[in-house]
This record gives sequence, C-alpha cells and structure tokens, in this order.
Amino acid sequence: MKFISRSVKQTEELAFKLAKRLNRGDCIAYRGGLGAGKTAFTRGLAKGLGIEDDVMSPTFSLVNQYEGDVILYHFDMYRIENEDDLYMTGFFDYLDSDGILAIEWSENIQSALPEDTIYVTIEKMDNDANTRQITIQGREI
Ligand SMILES: Nc1ncnc2c1ncn2[C@@H]1O[C@H](COP(=O)(O)OP(=O)(O)OP(=O)(O)O)[C@@H](O)[C@H]1O
Ligand SMILES: [Mg+2]
Repeated sequence: MKFISRSVKQTEELAFKLAKRLNRGDCIAYRGGLGAGKTAFTRGLAKGLGIEDDVMSPTFSLVNQYEGDVILYHFDMYRIENEDDLYMTGFFDYLDSDGILAIEWSENIQSALPEDTIYVTIEKMDNDANTRQITIQGREI
C-alpha cells in the first residue's frame, strides 16, 4: 500500500493507524536513507501503542525500549555490518519476545528478518522537502 505524506504530522498519523493493527511480536523494518523519516514514523507508532515517552533515535544505544500497551523495541542498525555484530546486540532474543520491533536501517540485517516482517519504505520526493512516499508491505492499514 502506497501513501503520500506531506508533513511530519501526516507521517506520524499514518504510523499511528498502523500501530492500531499490530500484534505482539510484530517486526517492522524500515527502508530509506538518512533523514527519510524513520524516527518520525516510530514516534507515531509509539503514540498508537499508548506510549507517552519521547521517541529519540537510538543511534548510540542501538536499541531503545518504550513501554505502553505493549513494549516497543526501537533499533538503529546503522552500524551493524555482519551477523556477528547482530548477535552481540542480542537482537535474536528481542525477536523471540512478544514486544513490537521497529528497526531503522533494516537493510543491514536483511537476512535476519523474519518472514512475516512488515516493511515500511520511506522515500524522499525530489520536488518537495516535506513530501515522502511511504510504502507499507505486509499489513493493510
Ligand atoms: N513528510 C515527512 N515525514 C517525515 N519527516 C519529514 C517529512 N517532511 C520533512 N521531514 C523531516 O525529515 C526529517 C526526518 O528525520 P528522522 O530523524 O525521522 O529521519 P530518519 O529516517 O530517522 O533519519 P536517520 O537515518 O538519520 O535516523 C526531520 O527533519 C523531519 O522534519
Ligand atoms: Mg532515525
């Protein structure tokens, strides 16, 4: 399903709606480069899951954990280069948990993603700094 977002607010609203359709254990994998809006999307997701904390990019911590109706694990895989790195993060234990995973830079861990992963691809549009095409695959919203 393809959407056009024309503001951060619209991106958050789309994510909020997706959050309402998620189940425990779901895995959301973002695709999209620097500044695409992955963290913005996660902010909306968190709101939709009843999380009131501020959502920040987990760039240095690798994973941030937020508690709402369910636990949200927010990953940034920017620095992960191989499977060994990934094991070190404990990622596979999180995968087995019944929290929801949202993974920035999922491109770096493609082969480790579960089969029923929901892909959220965020692309900047050439013509407008505030416009994004957001494609959600694997779940209707
Ligand atoms: N429609 C939009 N949706 C989301 N973000 C937008 C939109 N239009 C402009 N922006 C801007 O794009 C930036 C997105 O930042 P964000 O941190 O969410 O990106 P990111 O994909 O997480 O980047 P990084 O890879 O560095 O973690 C913000 O500065 C935001 O204001
Ligand atoms: Mg980010």
